[in-house]
Amino acid sequence: MKILVLGCNGQLGRCLYDQLEKTDHNVIYTSRDQIDIADFDATKRLIKQISPDIVINAIAYTAVDKAEQDQDKADLINHLAVANIAASCNELDCWLVHVSTDYVFDGASMMPYKEDDQTNPQSVYGDTKLKGELVIQSSGCRHIIIRTAWVFSEYGNNFLKTMLRLGAELSELRIVGDQIGCPTYAQDIANAIVVILENVKSKELNSGLYHFGGNVCWSWAEFSRAIFDEALELKVIASKPNVVAITTKEFPTLAKRPAQSQLNSNKLTTNFGIESSDCMLGIRSSLTAIKLKGP
Ligand SMILES: NC(=O)c1ccc[n+]([C@@H]2O[C@H](COP(=O)([O-])OP(=O)(O)OC[C@H]3O[C@@H](n4cnc5c(N)ncnc54)[C@H](OP(=O)(O)O)[C@@H]3O)[C@@H](O)[C@H]2O)c1
Repeated sequence: MKILVLGCNGQLGRCLYDQLEKTDHNVIYTSRDQIDIADFDATKRLIKQISPDIVINAIAYTAVDKAEQDQDKADLINHLAVANIAASCNELDCWLVHVSTDYVFDGASMMPYKEDDQTNPQSVYGDTKLKGELVIQSSGCRHIIIRTAWVFSEYGNNFLKTMLRLGAELSELRIVGDQIGCPTYAQDIANAIVVILENVKSKELNSGLYHFGGNVCWSWAEFSRAIFDEALELKVIASKPNVVAITTKEFPTLAKRPAQSQLNSNKLTTNFGIESSDCMLGIRSSLTAIKLKGP
């Protein structure tokens, strides 16, 4: 199959490269230099020219706090440009695989969120990502949307890498302990997408929305302790800082984040046999890659 990956230099984009290179698909990887999705006409023209069987959109405006003051840009990338991509896919009758976020929920639920639970984004980022989902669903294009959460890996900027950097500078870290989520290894998201592609190839698949999250339910403070414990064990660090759990009130941010946004991944397991991302294994793999290649 001919696959077009948009956003190959991002965290997920780089993991998609790692996973897709193990397959025999014909994959075209584009970064902002080749396809800038803010340029609607050029994006349409280039997608048409490439004429893929599947477009994977790994692009997003992901600066959650910055988005509060940069609403138009976040909306352009996460919503309007996604509408343009979906329209292109519809014209070509090709599939669109798109990635969304747990931040479409308000975090008031006590239970892990299912796909049909009520959305209620609390931030500009979450709101624009939800609009991106809705515009794909109403576009008529064949699509798979995967909502994921708290993404980390050996690549890009993410919580794991921020912890390693701060831990090297400070002996004590104050980390939020009252926001709960499911950290998800980006290589596992990429691998889940590869499995979905096989299903697109081999059977009559319906469009759908799926959750894919990590197999743990942690606060940011618990996540950071797990990272430092593993980093010490793997000798990525020589000593670990003391992690003090603080409240969201003690760490105010521009964007409001859900207090509980764990995702229930059962639908993906049932339909595709894909198990939740193994968070501890993901931390170990990320740290091992960082130890080998550097941050
Ligand atoms: N990171 C998380 O914790 C998290 C959590 C839940 C869901 N998600 C979702 O997961 C997906 C992947 O996120 P990620 O962590 O891989 O994000 P990322 O590392 O920030 O990558 C985003 C990519 O989008 C590219 N991009 C932005 N605007 C562009 C434009 N106009 N044209 C072309 N490329 C553009 C960026 O390119 P440049 O490198 O050139 O800037 C970057 O490579 C996103 O849909 C995100 O919403 C992420």
